[in-house]
Amino acid sequence: MESFQFLGIVLVLFVSVQWAIRRRRVDLEKLRLLPPGPTPWPVVGNIFQLGFVKVPHKSFAELALIHGPNIMTLWLGSMCTVVISSKEAAREMFKNHDVILAGRKVYECMKGDFGDELGSMITAQYGTNWRLLRKLSTTEFFVNSRLDATSNIRSRCVDKLVESIREASGNGVNSIDIGRFFFLMAFNLIGNLMFSKDLLDPKSSKGAEFFYHAGMVMEYAGKPNVADFMPFLKWLDPQGIRKNMQNHIREAFHIAGGFIEERVKSSEEKVERNSKDYLDVLLEYRGDDIEGPSMFSSTTINIIVFEMFTAGTDTTTSTLEWAMAELLHNPHTYKKLKTELQNIVSHDEKLEEKHIDNLPYLKAVIKETLRLHPPLPFLVPHKAMDSCMMHGYNIPKETQVLVNVWAIGRDTNTWEEASVFKPERFLKTMVDYKGQHFEYMPFGSGRRMCPAIPLASRVLPLALGTLLHKFDWVLDDGIEPADMDMSERMGITLRKAVPLKAIPIPIA
Ligand code: HEM
Repeated sequence: MESFQFLGIVLVLFVSVQWAIRRRRVDLEKLRLLPPGPTPWPVVGNIFQLGFVKVPHKSFAELALIHGPNIMTLWLGSMCTVVISSKEAAREMFKNHDVILAGRKVYECMKGDFGDELGSMITAQYGTNWRLLRKLSTTEFFVNSRLDATSNIRSRCVDKLVESIREASGNGVNSIDIGRFFFLMAFNLIGNLMFSKDLLDPKSSKGAEFFYHAGMVMEYAGKPNVADFMPFLKWLDPQGIRKNMQNHIREAFHIAGGFIEERVKSSEEKVERNSKDYLDVLLEYRGDDIEGPSMFSSTTINIIVFEMFTAGTDTTTSTLEWAMAELLHNPHTYKKLKTELQNIVSHDEKLEEKHIDNLPYLKAVIKETLRLHPPLPFLVPHKAMDSCMMHGYNIPKETQVLVNVWAIGRDTNTWEEASVFKPERFLKTMVDYKGQHFEYMPFGSGRRMCPAIPLASRVLPLALGTLLHKFDWVLDDGIEPADMDMSERMGITLRKAVPLKAIPIPIA
Protein backbone atom coordinates (compact mmCIF):
# COMPACT_ATOMS: atom_id res chain seq x y z
CA MET A 1 0.00 0.00 0.00
CA GLU A 2 2.77 2.40 1.03
CA SER A 3 4.76 1.62 -2.11
CA PHE A 4 1.66 2.48 -4.18
CA GLN A 5 1.45 5.84 -2.42
CA PHE A 6 5.15 6.45 -3.01
CA LEU A 7 4.81 5.56 -6.69
CA GLY A 8 1.80 7.91 -6.94
CA ILE A 9 3.76 10.81 -5.45
CA VAL A 10 6.70 10.19 -7.78
CA LEU A 11 4.35 10.08 -10.76
CA VAL A 12 2.64 13.34 -9.78
CA LEU A 13 6.03 15.00 -9.24
CA PHE A 14 7.30 13.73 -12.58
CA VAL A 15 4.23 14.96 -14.48
CA SER A 16 4.38 18.38 -12.71
CA VAL A 17 8.07 18.83 -13.52
CA GLN A 18 7.46 17.84 -17.15
CA TRP A 19 4.51 20.25 -17.33
CA ALA A 20 6.55 23.08 -15.79
CA ILE A 21 9.44 22.47 -18.20
CA ARG A 22 7.08 22.39 -21.17
CA ARG A 23 5.34 25.56 -19.98
CA ARG A 24 8.63 27.36 -19.50
CA ARG A 25 9.73 26.21 -22.96
CA VAL A 26 6.49 27.60 -24.44
CA ASP A 27 6.97 30.87 -22.50
CA LEU A 28 10.58 31.16 -23.68
CA GLU A 29 9.50 30.35 -27.22
CA LYS A 30 6.93 33.15 -26.98
CA LEU A 31 9.52 35.54 -25.54
CA ARG A 32 11.87 34.69 -28.38
CA LEU A 33 9.15 35.67 -30.83
CA LEU A 34 8.56 39.07 -29.21
CA PRO A 35 9.29 42.10 -31.40
CA PRO A 36 12.91 43.27 -31.12
CA GLY A 37 13.95 45.75 -28.48
CA PRO A 38 16.82 46.85 -26.27
CA THR A 39 18.04 44.21 -23.78
CA PRO A 40 16.17 44.68 -20.50
CA TRP A 41 17.87 44.78 -17.10
CA PRO A 42 16.57 42.64 -14.26
CA VAL A 43 13.63 44.17 -12.34
CA VAL A 44 13.75 47.62 -13.98
CA GLY A 45 13.59 46.39 -17.58
CA ASN A 46 14.43 49.18 -20.04
CA ILE A 47 13.45 52.07 -17.78
CA PHE A 48 17.01 53.43 -17.48
CA GLN A 49 17.48 53.35 -21.27
CA LEU A 50 14.63 55.79 -21.76
CA GLY A 51 16.60 58.95 -21.04
CA PHE A 52 14.86 60.78 -18.23
CA VAL A 53 15.47 64.26 -19.58
CA LYS A 54 13.45 63.57 -22.69
CA VAL A 55 9.71 63.27 -23.13
CA PRO A 56 8.84 59.54 -23.47
CA HIS A 57 7.47 59.64 -27.03
CA LYS A 58 10.79 61.13 -28.19
CA SER A 59 13.01 58.60 -26.44
CA PHE A 60 10.74 55.74 -27.60
CA ALA A 61 11.04 57.06 -31.18
CA GLU A 62 14.86 57.17 -30.92
CA LEU A 63 14.99 53.60 -29.52
CA ALA A 64 12.62 52.44 -32.26
CA LEU A 65 14.99 53.72 -34.96
CA ILE A 66 17.72 51.45 -33.53
CA HIS A 67 15.71 48.40 -32.44
CA GLY A 68 12.41 48.23 -34.31
CA PRO A 69 11.29 51.03 -36.61
CA ASN A 70 7.90 49.35 -37.14
CA ILE A 71 7.34 47.46 -33.92
CA MET A 72 9.49 47.18 -30.80
CA THR A 73 9.32 45.62 -27.33
CA LEU A 74 10.18 47.60 -24.23
CA TRP A 75 10.04 46.32 -20.68
CA LEU A 76 8.83 49.04 -18.34
CA GLY A 77 9.82 47.25 -15.16
CA SER A 78 7.87 44.01 -15.50
CA MET A 79 5.30 45.52 -17.86
CA CYS A 80 5.75 44.13 -21.37
CA THR A 81 5.08 46.97 -23.81
CA VAL A 82 4.93 46.83 -27.58
CA VAL A 83 5.45 50.15 -29.35
CA ILE A 84 4.06 50.72 -32.84
CA SER A 85 6.10 53.42 -34.60
CA SER A 86 5.27 53.28 -38.32
CA LYS A 87 2.16 53.77 -40.43
CA GLU A 88 2.64 50.25 -41.87
CA ALA A 89 2.55 48.61 -38.43
CA ALA A 90 -0.36 50.86 -37.39
CA ARG A 91 -2.28 49.79 -40.49
CA GLU A 92 -1.74 46.12 -39.59
CA MET A 93 -2.80 46.76 -36.01
CA PHE A 94 -6.03 48.58 -36.82
CA LYS A 95 -6.97 46.63 -39.96
CA ASN A 96 -6.14 43.07 -38.88
CA HIS A 97 -6.03 43.00 -35.06
CA ASP A 98 -8.31 45.82 -34.01
CA VAL A 99 -10.56 43.69 -31.78
CA ILE A 100 -7.80 41.68 -30.07
CA LEU A 101 -5.85 44.87 -29.36
CA ALA A 102 -8.91 46.89 -28.28
CA GLY A 103 -8.40 46.12 -24.58
CA ARG A 104 -7.24 48.87 -22.22
CA LYS A 105 -4.17 48.85 -20.03
CA VAL A 106 -5.56 50.24 -16.79
CA TYR A 107 -2.97 51.99 -14.64
CA GLU A 108 -2.89 51.79 -10.85
CA CYS A 109 -4.30 55.28 -10.29
CA MET A 110 -7.43 54.38 -12.28
CA LYS A 111 -8.14 51.26 -10.26
CA GLY A 112 -10.00 52.45 -7.26
CA ASP A 113 -13.23 52.64 -5.42
CA PHE A 114 -14.69 54.70 -8.25
CA GLY A 115 -12.61 54.62 -11.42
CA ASP A 116 -13.51 51.00 -11.97
CA GLU A 117 -13.72 49.38 -15.32
CA LEU A 118 -17.49 49.02 -15.25
CA GLY A 119 -18.64 52.61 -15.49
CA SER A 120 -15.84 54.21 -17.44
CA MET A 121 -15.66 54.14 -21.23
CA ILE A 122 -11.97 55.01 -21.35
CA THR A 123 -10.87 52.21 -19.03
CA ALA A 124 -13.55 49.63 -19.90
CA GLN A 125 -12.31 46.45 -21.51
CA TYR A 126 -13.73 45.82 -24.98
CA GLY A 127 -17.07 44.07 -24.47
CA THR A 128 -20.76 44.53 -23.74
CA ASN A 129 -20.44 47.28 -21.17
CA TRP A 130 -17.99 49.32 -23.25
CA ARG A 131 -20.26 48.89 -26.29
CA LEU A 132 -23.23 50.32 -24.39
CA LEU A 133 -21.26 53.33 -23.16
CA ARG A 134 -19.81 53.91 -26.59
CA LYS A 135 -23.23 53.69 -28.27
CA LEU A 136 -24.57 56.21 -25.79
CA SER A 137 -21.82 58.68 -26.60
CA THR A 138 -22.00 58.31 -30.38
CA THR A 139 -25.80 58.31 -30.64
CA GLU A 140 -26.63 60.77 -27.87
CA PHE A 141 -23.66 63.02 -26.99
CA PHE A 142 -21.62 63.55 -30.14
CA VAL A 143 -24.23 62.98 -32.83
CA ASN A 144 -24.52 65.89 -35.28
CA SER A 145 -28.19 66.62 -34.51
CA ARG A 146 -27.39 67.19 -30.81
CA LEU A 147 -24.28 69.17 -31.68
CA ASP A 148 -26.34 71.38 -33.98
CA ALA A 149 -28.83 71.93 -31.17
CA THR A 150 -26.06 72.97 -28.76
CA SER A 151 -24.12 75.37 -31.02
CA ASN A 152 -25.43 78.31 -28.93
CA ILE A 153 -23.71 76.82 -25.84
CA ARG A 154 -20.34 76.66 -27.60
CA SER A 155 -20.81 80.15 -28.95
CA ARG A 156 -21.58 81.46 -25.45
CA CYS A 157 -18.53 79.76 -23.95
CA VAL A 158 -16.28 81.29 -26.62
CA ASP A 159 -17.84 84.74 -25.99
CA LYS A 160 -16.96 84.31 -22.32
CA LEU A 161 -13.42 83.34 -23.28
CA VAL A 162 -13.07 86.60 -25.26
CA GLU A 163 -14.56 88.61 -22.41
CA SER A 164 -12.32 87.09 -19.74
CA ILE A 165 -9.20 87.57 -21.89
CA ARG A 166 -10.13 91.20 -22.51
CA GLU A 167 -10.61 91.76 -18.79
CA ALA A 168 -7.49 89.91 -17.62
CA SER A 169 -5.27 91.72 -20.09
CA GLY A 170 -6.61 95.14 -19.04
CA ASN A 171 -7.84 95.68 -22.60
CA GLY A 172 -4.57 94.80 -24.27
CA VAL A 173 -2.03 96.05 -21.71
CA ASN A 174 -0.91 92.90 -19.89
CA SER A 175 0.19 89.55 -21.19
CA ILE A 176 -1.85 86.48 -20.30
CA ASP A 177 -1.15 82.76 -19.92
CA ILE A 178 -3.25 81.66 -22.89
CA GLY A 179 -3.38 77.95 -21.96
CA ARG A 180 -5.08 78.79 -18.67
CA PHE A 181 -7.88 80.61 -20.50
CA PHE A 182 -8.35 77.76 -22.97
CA PHE A 183 -8.56 75.34 -20.04
CA LEU A 184 -11.25 77.43 -18.35
CA MET A 185 -13.20 77.65 -21.60
CA ALA A 186 -12.99 73.88 -22.26
CA PHE A 187 -14.03 73.10 -18.69
CA ASN A 188 -16.93 75.52 -18.80
CA LEU A 189 -18.03 74.11 -22.14
CA ILE A 190 -18.16 70.52 -20.86
CA GLY A 191 -19.96 71.78 -17.71
CA ASN A 192 -22.58 73.42 -19.89
CA LEU A 193 -22.99 70.43 -22.20
CA MET A 194 -23.29 68.12 -19.20
CA PHE A 195 -25.27 70.10 -16.65
CA SER A 196 -26.39 73.29 -18.45
CA LYS A 197 -24.40 75.03 -15.71
CA ASP A 198 -21.63 77.62 -15.69
CA LEU A 199 -19.35 75.81 -13.27
CA LEU A 200 -16.95 78.72 -13.29
CA ASP A 201 -19.56 81.29 -12.45
CA PRO A 202 -18.07 83.26 -9.52
CA LYS A 203 -21.40 82.72 -7.73
CA SER A 204 -21.03 78.92 -7.86
CA SER A 205 -18.61 77.89 -5.09
CA LYS A 206 -19.49 74.24 -5.75
CA GLY A 207 -18.47 74.73 -9.40
CA ALA A 208 -15.08 76.12 -8.35
CA GLU A 209 -14.55 73.21 -5.94
CA PHE A 210 -15.44 70.71 -8.65
CA PHE A 211 -12.98 72.46 -10.98
CA TYR A 212 -10.23 72.24 -8.33
CA HIS A 213 -10.73 68.51 -7.67
CA ALA A 214 -11.02 67.63 -11.37
CA GLY A 215 -7.78 69.57 -12.04
CA MET A 216 -5.99 67.68 -9.24
CA VAL A 217 -7.17 64.33 -10.61
CA MET A 218 -5.75 65.23 -14.02
CA GLU A 219 -2.48 66.30 -12.43
CA TYR A 220 -2.10 63.00 -10.54
CA ALA A 221 -3.17 60.97 -13.57
CA GLY A 222 -0.33 62.56 -15.58
CA LYS A 223 2.42 61.56 -13.12
CA PRO A 224 4.47 58.43 -13.92
CA ASN A 225 3.75 55.91 -11.16
CA VAL A 226 6.44 53.46 -10.15
CA ALA A 227 3.72 51.03 -8.92
CA ASP A 228 2.68 50.48 -12.56
CA PHE A 229 6.11 49.20 -13.49
CA MET A 230 6.87 47.25 -10.33
CA PRO A 231 3.58 45.65 -9.28
CA PHE A 232 5.09 44.34 -6.01
CA LEU A 233 5.06 48.00 -4.90
CA LYS A 234 1.42 48.61 -5.72
CA TRP A 235 0.16 47.85 -2.20
CA LEU A 236 2.51 50.51 -0.87
CA ASP A 237 1.39 53.19 -3.36
CA PRO A 238 4.87 54.69 -2.83
CA GLN A 239 4.12 58.11 -4.37
CA GLY A 240 0.65 58.30 -2.84
CA ILE A 241 -0.79 58.81 -6.34
CA ARG A 242 -3.65 56.36 -5.97
CA LYS A 243 -4.62 57.58 -2.51
CA ASN A 244 -4.58 61.27 -3.45
CA MET A 245 -6.39 60.68 -6.70
CA GLN A 246 -9.13 58.69 -4.99
CA ASN A 247 -9.59 61.46 -2.42
CA HIS A 248 -10.06 64.10 -5.11
CA ILE A 249 -12.35 61.81 -7.12
CA ARG A 250 -14.46 61.20 -4.00
CA GLU A 251 -14.84 64.96 -3.44
CA ALA A 252 -15.63 65.63 -7.10
CA PHE A 253 -18.23 62.85 -7.17
CA HIS A 254 -19.81 64.23 -4.05
CA ILE A 255 -20.27 67.62 -5.73
CA ALA A 256 -21.42 66.15 -9.06
CA GLY A 257 -23.83 63.93 -7.10
CA GLY A 258 -25.36 67.14 -5.72
CA PHE A 259 -25.82 68.54 -9.24
CA ILE A 260 -27.47 65.30 -10.30
CA GLU A 261 -29.86 65.28 -7.34
CA GLU A 262 -30.71 68.93 -8.02
CA ARG A 263 -31.68 67.94 -11.54
CA VAL A 264 -33.73 64.94 -10.45
CA LYS A 265 -35.62 67.20 -8.08
CA SER A 266 -36.24 69.87 -10.73
CA SER A 267 -37.54 67.27 -13.18
CA GLU A 268 -39.88 65.92 -10.50
CA GLU A 269 -41.07 69.47 -10.05
CA LYS A 270 -41.39 69.68 -13.85
CA VAL A 271 -39.15 72.76 -14.17
CA GLU A 272 -39.05 73.68 -17.87
CA ARG A 273 -35.69 73.95 -19.65
CA ASN A 274 -35.05 74.76 -23.29
CA SER A 275 -33.07 71.76 -24.44
CA LYS A 276 -31.95 68.36 -23.27
CA ASP A 277 -28.39 68.23 -21.95
CA TYR A 278 -26.13 65.16 -21.41
CA LEU A 279 -27.35 64.73 -17.84
CA ASP A 280 -30.98 64.48 -19.02
CA VAL A 281 -29.89 61.71 -21.37
CA LEU A 282 -27.97 59.88 -18.65
CA LEU A 283 -30.87 60.11 -16.24
CA GLU A 284 -33.09 58.34 -18.76
CA TYR A 285 -30.76 55.37 -18.29
CA ARG A 286 -30.63 55.60 -14.50
CA GLY A 287 -31.81 52.59 -12.57
CA ASP A 288 -30.22 52.29 -9.15
CA ASP A 289 -31.95 49.05 -8.30
CA ILE A 290 -31.51 47.40 -11.63
CA GLU A 291 -27.94 47.99 -12.80
CA GLY A 292 -27.91 45.78 -15.85
CA PRO A 293 -27.10 45.67 -19.53
CA SER A 294 -28.84 48.93 -20.33
CA MET A 295 -29.22 50.76 -17.01
CA PHE A 296 -26.71 52.80 -15.05
CA SER A 297 -26.34 53.27 -11.30
CA SER A 298 -25.79 56.76 -9.87
CA THR A 299 -22.09 55.95 -9.44
CA THR A 300 -21.80 54.98 -13.09
CA ILE A 301 -23.47 58.25 -14.11
CA ASN A 302 -20.99 60.08 -11.93
CA ILE A 303 -18.10 58.28 -13.61
CA ILE A 304 -19.39 59.06 -17.11
CA VAL A 305 -19.84 62.73 -16.22
CA PHE A 306 -16.39 62.99 -14.69
CA GLU A 307 -14.74 61.18 -17.57
CA MET A 308 -16.05 63.73 -20.07
CA PHE A 309 -14.26 66.46 -18.12
CA THR A 310 -10.96 64.58 -17.90
CA ALA A 311 -11.08 63.41 -21.54
CA GLY A 312 -12.24 66.71 -22.99
CA THR A 313 -10.49 69.57 -21.20
CA ASP A 314 -6.75 68.91 -21.35
CA THR A 315 -6.85 67.58 -24.93
CA THR A 316 -8.68 70.71 -26.12
CA THR A 317 -6.40 73.02 -24.12
CA SER A 318 -3.20 71.38 -25.37
CA THR A 319 -4.28 71.67 -29.03
CA LEU A 320 -5.36 75.30 -28.77
CA GLU A 321 -2.25 76.42 -26.87
CA TRP A 322 0.06 74.69 -29.38
CA ALA A 323 -1.90 76.14 -32.32
CA MET A 324 -1.53 79.65 -30.93
CA ALA A 325 2.16 79.05 -30.18
CA GLU A 326 2.84 77.79 -33.71
CA LEU A 327 1.03 80.79 -35.22
CA LEU A 328 3.09 83.23 -33.17
CA HIS A 329 6.27 81.26 -33.90
CA ASN A 330 5.53 81.39 -37.66
CA PRO A 331 4.37 84.96 -38.44
CA HIS A 332 3.64 84.18 -42.12
CA THR A 333 1.04 81.54 -41.12
CA TYR A 334 -0.40 83.99 -38.58
CA LYS A 335 -0.81 86.64 -41.30
CA LYS A 336 -2.26 84.15 -43.78
CA LEU A 337 -4.88 83.03 -41.26
CA LYS A 338 -5.75 86.61 -40.33
CA THR A 339 -6.28 87.42 -44.02
CA GLU A 340 -8.53 84.39 -44.52
CA LEU A 341 -10.62 85.37 -41.49
CA GLN A 342 -10.92 89.00 -42.63
CA ASN A 343 -12.09 87.86 -46.06
CA ILE A 344 -14.80 85.53 -44.76
CA VAL A 345 -16.04 87.14 -41.53
CA SER A 346 -16.56 90.87 -41.61
CA HIS A 347 -15.09 92.99 -38.87
CA ASP A 348 -18.28 93.57 -36.88
CA GLU A 349 -19.61 90.06 -37.47
CA LYS A 350 -19.13 87.19 -35.05
CA LEU A 351 -17.30 84.05 -36.15
CA GLU A 352 -19.75 81.16 -35.97
CA GLU A 353 -19.64 77.45 -36.62
CA LYS A 354 -21.43 77.95 -39.95
CA HIS A 355 -18.35 79.85 -41.22
CA ILE A 356 -15.91 77.03 -40.56
CA ASP A 357 -16.46 75.21 -43.86
CA ASN A 358 -15.41 78.38 -45.67
CA LEU A 359 -12.20 78.68 -43.66
CA PRO A 360 -9.92 75.96 -45.11
CA TYR A 361 -6.71 77.52 -43.82
CA LEU A 362 -8.06 77.66 -40.27
CA LYS A 363 -8.97 73.97 -40.49
CA ALA A 364 -5.50 73.22 -41.93
CA VAL A 365 -3.85 75.05 -39.00
CA ILE A 366 -5.73 72.81 -36.55
CA LYS A 367 -4.81 69.67 -38.50
CA GLU A 368 -1.14 70.65 -38.72
CA THR A 369 -1.10 71.39 -34.98
CA LEU A 370 -2.49 67.93 -34.26
CA ARG A 371 0.14 66.36 -36.54
CA LEU A 372 3.08 67.95 -34.75
CA HIS A 373 1.57 68.04 -31.25
CA PRO A 374 -0.96 65.23 -30.78
CA PRO A 375 -2.24 65.72 -27.19
CA LEU A 376 -2.05 61.95 -26.60
CA PRO A 377 1.21 60.98 -28.34
CA PHE A 378 0.72 57.24 -27.56
CA LEU A 379 -3.12 57.34 -27.85
CA VAL A 380 -4.64 55.87 -24.66
CA PRO A 381 -2.70 52.65 -23.88
CA HIS A 382 -4.26 49.59 -25.51
CA LYS A 383 -3.93 46.02 -24.21
CA ALA A 384 -3.82 42.68 -26.04
CA MET A 385 -6.88 40.73 -24.90
CA ASP A 386 -5.37 37.60 -26.42
CA SER A 387 -2.06 36.81 -28.07
CA CYS A 388 -1.68 37.55 -31.77
CA MET A 389 1.01 37.64 -34.45
CA MET A 390 1.95 40.98 -36.02
CA HIS A 391 4.66 41.56 -38.63
CA GLY A 392 5.82 38.00 -37.83
CA TYR A 393 6.16 38.66 -34.08
CA ASN A 394 4.14 37.43 -31.15
CA ILE A 395 2.22 39.93 -29.03
CA PRO A 396 1.39 37.98 -25.85
CA LYS A 397 -1.95 38.35 -24.07
CA GLU A 398 -1.97 41.23 -21.53
CA THR A 399 0.80 43.16 -23.36
CA GLN A 400 0.46 46.94 -23.27
CA VAL A 401 0.35 48.36 -26.82
CA LEU A 402 1.36 51.98 -27.41
CA VAL A 403 0.98 53.63 -30.82
CA ASN A 404 3.51 56.44 -31.17
CA VAL A 405 1.34 58.77 -33.29
CA TRP A 406 3.77 61.60 -32.48
CA ALA A 407 6.61 59.72 -34.25
CA ILE A 408 4.34 58.56 -37.11
CA GLY A 409 3.21 62.16 -37.67
CA ARG A 410 6.85 63.28 -38.01
CA ASP A 411 8.11 60.40 -40.15
CA THR A 412 10.35 61.88 -42.84
CA ASN A 413 9.44 59.03 -45.23
CA THR A 414 5.85 60.28 -45.26
CA TRP A 415 6.00 63.98 -44.55
CA GLU A 416 8.03 66.52 -46.49
CA GLU A 417 9.89 68.87 -44.13
CA ALA A 418 8.33 66.79 -41.37
CA SER A 419 9.27 69.01 -38.44
CA VAL A 420 8.17 72.28 -40.09
CA PHE A 421 4.76 73.80 -39.24
CA LYS A 422 3.21 74.02 -42.71
CA PRO A 423 -0.63 74.00 -42.68
CA GLU A 424 -0.53 74.32 -46.51
CA ARG A 425 0.23 70.59 -46.73
CA PHE A 426 -3.35 69.84 -45.61
CA LEU A 427 -4.84 72.06 -48.35
CA LYS A 428 -3.54 69.72 -51.02
CA THR A 429 -4.41 66.35 -49.55
CA MET A 430 -7.47 64.35 -48.54
CA VAL A 431 -5.69 63.09 -45.40
CA ASP A 432 -7.84 63.70 -42.34
CA TYR A 433 -8.07 62.62 -38.72
CA LYS A 434 -11.04 60.26 -38.95
CA GLY A 435 -8.95 57.12 -38.53
CA GLN A 436 -8.59 56.01 -42.17
CA HIS A 437 -5.11 57.46 -42.75
CA PHE A 438 -2.54 55.62 -40.69
CA GLU A 439 0.13 58.28 -41.21
CA TYR A 440 -2.01 60.74 -39.23
CA MET A 441 -4.03 59.56 -36.22
CA PRO A 442 -4.27 62.23 -33.50
CA PHE A 443 -7.67 60.79 -32.47
CA GLY A 444 -6.65 57.15 -32.96
CA SER A 445 -8.29 54.67 -35.30
CA GLY A 446 -10.54 51.62 -35.12
CA ARG A 447 -12.96 50.75 -32.36
CA ARG A 448 -11.31 52.73 -29.57
CA MET A 449 -10.95 55.93 -31.62
CA CYS A 450 -12.00 59.15 -29.88
CA PRO A 451 -15.81 59.36 -30.03
CA ALA A 452 -15.74 63.17 -29.68
CA ILE A 453 -14.23 64.07 -33.08
CA PRO A 454 -17.48 65.81 -34.21
CA LEU A 455 -17.38 68.01 -31.10
CA ALA A 456 -13.63 68.73 -31.29
CA SER A 457 -13.82 69.65 -34.98
CA ARG A 458 -16.32 72.37 -34.12
CA VAL A 459 -14.80 73.71 -30.90
CA LEU A 460 -11.14 73.89 -31.95
CA PRO A 461 -11.54 76.11 -35.06
CA LEU A 462 -14.28 78.18 -33.42
CA ALA A 463 -12.14 79.07 -30.37
CA LEU A 464 -8.88 79.64 -32.27
CA GLY A 465 -10.52 81.55 -35.13
CA THR A 466 -12.43 83.80 -32.73
CA LEU A 467 -9.28 84.75 -30.79
CA LEU A 468 -7.58 85.76 -34.02
CA HIS A 469 -10.65 87.56 -35.29
CA LYS A 470 -11.08 89.56 -32.07
CA PHE A 471 -7.46 90.31 -31.09
CA ASP A 472 -4.03 91.05 -32.49
CA TRP A 473 -1.47 89.04 -30.56
CA VAL A 474 2.00 90.23 -29.51
CA LEU A 475 4.57 88.06 -27.74
CA ASP A 476 5.41 88.88 -24.13
CA ASP A 477 8.65 90.67 -23.10
CA GLY A 478 9.63 91.51 -26.66
CA ILE A 479 10.52 87.87 -27.41
CA GLU A 480 11.17 87.33 -31.12
CA PRO A 481 9.05 84.62 -32.79
CA ALA A 482 12.16 82.65 -33.74
CA ASP A 483 13.38 82.65 -30.11
CA MET A 484 10.25 81.11 -28.63
CA ASP A 485 10.79 78.04 -26.49
CA MET A 486 8.77 75.29 -28.23
CA SER A 487 9.86 72.40 -26.01
CA GLU A 488 7.36 69.84 -24.70
CA ARG A 489 6.47 68.37 -21.33
CA MET A 490 4.30 65.35 -20.69
CA GLY A 491 1.45 65.39 -18.15
CA ILE A 492 -1.93 63.84 -18.79
CA THR A 493 -1.47 65.32 -22.29
CA LEU A 494 1.44 66.73 -24.24
CA ARG A 495 1.82 70.37 -23.19
CA LYS A 496 4.16 73.25 -23.93
CA ALA A 497 6.97 73.13 -21.36
CA VAL A 498 6.97 76.91 -21.06
CA PRO A 499 3.39 78.23 -20.98
CA LEU A 500 2.63 80.58 -23.85
CA LYS A 501 2.31 84.20 -22.78
CA ALA A 502 1.17 86.92 -25.13
CA ILE A 503 -0.64 90.27 -25.13
CA PRO A 504 -4.08 90.30 -26.76
CA ILE A 505 -4.77 93.70 -28.31
CA PRO A 506 -8.51 94.05 -28.96
CA ILE A 507 -9.36 94.95 -32.53
CA ALA A 508 -11.48 98.07 -32.24
C1 HEM B 1 -8.25 67.83 -29.36
C2 HEM B 1 -9.20 67.09 -28.88
C3 HEM B 1 -9.11 65.60 -28.64
C4 HEM B 1 -8.16 64.69 -29.04
C5 HEM B 1 -6.92 64.95 -29.89
C6 HEM B 1 -8.57 63.39 -28.55
C7 HEM B 1 -7.87 62.22 -28.74
C8 HEM B 1 -8.26 60.99 -28.24
C9 HEM B 1 -7.50 59.79 -28.38
C10 HEM B 1 -6.16 59.67 -29.09
C11 HEM B 1 -8.18 58.78 -27.77
C12 HEM B 1 -7.74 57.32 -27.60
C13 HEM B 1 -7.90 56.51 -28.85
C14 HEM B 1 -7.36 55.10 -28.68
O1 HEM B 1 -7.19 54.65 -27.57
O2 HEM B 1 -7.07 54.46 -29.68
C15 HEM B 1 -9.39 59.36 -27.22
C16 HEM B 1 -10.36 58.64 -26.54
C17 HEM B 1 -11.46 59.22 -25.95
N1 HEM B 1 -11.83 60.54 -26.03
FE1 HEM B 1 -10.88 62.00 -27.03
N2 HEM B 1 -9.75 63.54 -27.86
C18 HEM B 1 -10.11 64.86 -27.90
C19 HEM B 1 -11.25 65.43 -27.33
C20 HEM B 1 -12.19 64.74 -26.61
C21 HEM B 1 -13.36 65.35 -26.00
C22 HEM B 1 -13.71 66.85 -26.12
C23 HEM B 1 -14.03 64.36 -25.35
C24 HEM B 1 -15.30 64.41 -24.56
C25 HEM B 1 -15.95 65.48 -24.21
C26 HEM B 1 -13.29 63.11 -25.57
C27 HEM B 1 -13.68 61.87 -25.09
C28 HEM B 1 -12.98 60.69 -25.30
C29 HEM B 1 -13.38 59.41 -24.73
C30 HEM B 1 -14.60 59.15 -23.85
C31 HEM B 1 -12.42 58.47 -25.16
C32 HEM B 1 -12.37 56.98 -24.85
C33 HEM B 1 -12.91 56.14 -26.00
C34 HEM B 1 -12.80 54.64 -25.76
O3 HEM B 1 -11.96 54.20 -24.99
O4 HEM B 1 -13.57 53.91 -26.38
N3 HEM B 1 -12.20 63.39 -26.35
N4 HEM B 1 -9.42 60.71 -27.52
